Amino acid sequence: MHPHFGLSHVNRRRFLAGVGVAFLTSPGLFAEALTRTPKQTEGPFYPDKLPLDTDNDLLLINDGITPAAGEVTYVSGRILGPDGSPIRNAVVEIWQCDANGAYLHSRTGNADKQDKNFQGFGRFVTGSDGRYLFRTIKPVPYPGRTPHIHYAVKMKGREKWTTQCYIKGHEGNPKDGIWKSVRDEKERDAITVDFAPLANAKAGELAATFDIVMGYTPEL
Ligand SMILES: [Fe+2]
Repeated sequence: MHPHFGLSHVNRRRFLAGVGVAFLTSPGLFAEALTRTPKQTEGPFYPDKLPLDTDNDLLLINDGITPAAGEVTYVSGRILGPDGSPIRNAVVEIWQCDANGAYLHSRTGNADKQDKNFQGFGRFVTGSDGRYLFRTIKPVPYPGRTPHIHYAVKMKGREKWTTQCYIKGHEGNPKDGIWKSVRDEKERDAITVDFAPLANAKAGELAATFDIVMGYTPEL
């Protein structure tokens, strides 16, 4: 079952229109150029209590009408096997801090400034094309870390796999111990992506494409 978007009728139509554009801007992948996405630490802030709403729109919680603060970003991509074949039924989870640097976690920093409208966590199950999509905010730095979005990929018969996605060209990246811990430049590039203005976006929305190349194809 696919998670629903949880948006009002009008917003939902607008959201889906944005999705089409986001997919069109996603670059093609060539099998011979595939770099396996490096694994990164899960970190301490995977929600210790999941939100009531775990859909793929992190900007609105359930039927809320006030969106989260931050730069609206459509983050999409594909979950692929080592040969570039799409992986379906992969559970993709993301979590990140809100615009004020607070996670959805009881031990987060900046708890007093938490944005109550930000969902902080979302989930999407890939279809046969291996695609996932989230609407969220462009990640921001918090003390000790360059901006990043945490990812977990869960597949039947496999252990939970985690990584982090970074903003290409961000000045904080070269100073970030976890980003730098990936020594191979190609692998680092694989987790560092453009957050670019979405073509024809009415309100300055951004789009980022992050494909994840796993080291294996799951048994079906
Ligand atoms: Fe983090």
